[in-house]
Amino acid sequence: MPGDKIHIFDTTLRDGEQVPGCKLVSSEKIALALKLEELGVDIIEAGFPISSPGDFASVTEISKLITKATVCALSRAVQKDIEAAGEAIKFAKRPRIHTGIGTSDSHIKAKFNATQDEILERAIQAVKWAKKYTDDIEFYAEDAGRTENGYLARVIEAVIKAGATVVNIPDTTGYCLPHQYGEKIAYLINNVPNIDKAIISCHCHNDLGLATANSIAGVIAGARQIECTINGLGERAGNTSLEEVVMVIKQHKELGLHTDINATLLNPMSRLVSDTMRMPVQPNKAIVGSNAFSHSSGIHQDGFLKDTSTYEIIAPEEVGADSSKIVLTARSGRSALAHRFQKLNYQFDRNDIDVLYEHFTQLADSKKEVDDNDLAHMALSHQQKTLATA
Ligand code: KIV
Ligand code: ZN
Repeated sequence: MPGDKIHIFDTTLRDGEQVPGCKLVSSEKIALALKLEELGVDIIEAGFPISSPGDFASVTEISKLITKATVCALSRAVQKDIEAAGEAIKFAKRPRIHTGIGTSDSHIKAKFNATQDEILERAIQAVKWAKKYTDDIEFYAEDAGRTENGYLARVIEAVIKAGATVVNIPDTTGYCLPHQYGEKIAYLINNVPNIDKAIISCHCHNDLGLATANSIAGVIAGARQIECTINGLGERAGNTSLEEVVMVIKQHKELGLHTDINATLLNPMSRLVSDTMRMPVQPNKAIVGSNAFSHSSGIHQDGFLKDTSTYEIIAPEEVGADSSKIVLTARSGRSALAHRFQKLNYQFDRNDIDVLYEHFTQLADSKKEVDDNDLAHMALSHQQKTLATA
């Protein structure tokens, strides 16, 4: 496949599972991990082993079962966390420890009551502890989005020197604008002398609805990993949505990037996660929402029926969605009505449709959607009237 590969790091089972109400039992986590591997994700963040015995057990089991993807465990920059993470992933074919610490002034002062230099030392120490368990160490600079670039560059240089192979630049609070996040990644590429020894990762939250845009700005600037979740689940307003970034990269070939995700599994995966986590997907959600391939206004329906590409940039089958829907509402036009009658095997000419359309708009004004039953009644009464006047 041409172009640079973007590694897809899925954190549905860790950041996604932190959502209130989305807690999973071990068997559910294992089932989802196997499906994520089938989907083609490169890294599965399986959990936060120190957080509970149940999560430790889930990460251990996932490590045993996953054969292709890297299995990653989260830890703070704390020795006992790192030991638990190291233990939990010891059976993995490709084990990774994800460790890190807050680097913004707000985190350094309010959370740690420390200095920049002390945090730098703790970051280095964490990577060194983690290195005892695996070579694949990802370091996160929590709240990097609000961390001053000069200090962030110092931390990143030091952790790479200590052995980090992936450096995660989280916009933990979803604060950055896309150009700011992109510039932050570019700054690190231009100012960290050993940056070529690590992969830069984007981990963006969606507090301002910018997580996808920020992650894409990050990879345009040179990052090569995106951390994301199915359906964009995650703390507060969520994380970057996996299906969105994958399809942005697939649609925009001019970016010269690709992922190994099997896009036809995106909708089945979304439904599985939604059902398992008991978290409905908003209907207007890009790629996987129930309205993502529905057309309801007359102008759109007319164009779509002439050529689907007028109003659809992705074919539903490309992302495993049900076929596109023409929804009949008070905003629909004659061509959509005629199309639906045709699908229901009624043969009406233009004059019939003009008459039927009058009845249709009256009915449509009184309800949200006109369905096939309504149309059958309309057709019958129209046929009876036509016969009576013949
Ligand atoms: O949002 C964040 O900063 C995180 C880190 C733990 C990677 O989830
Ligand atoms: Zn996060």
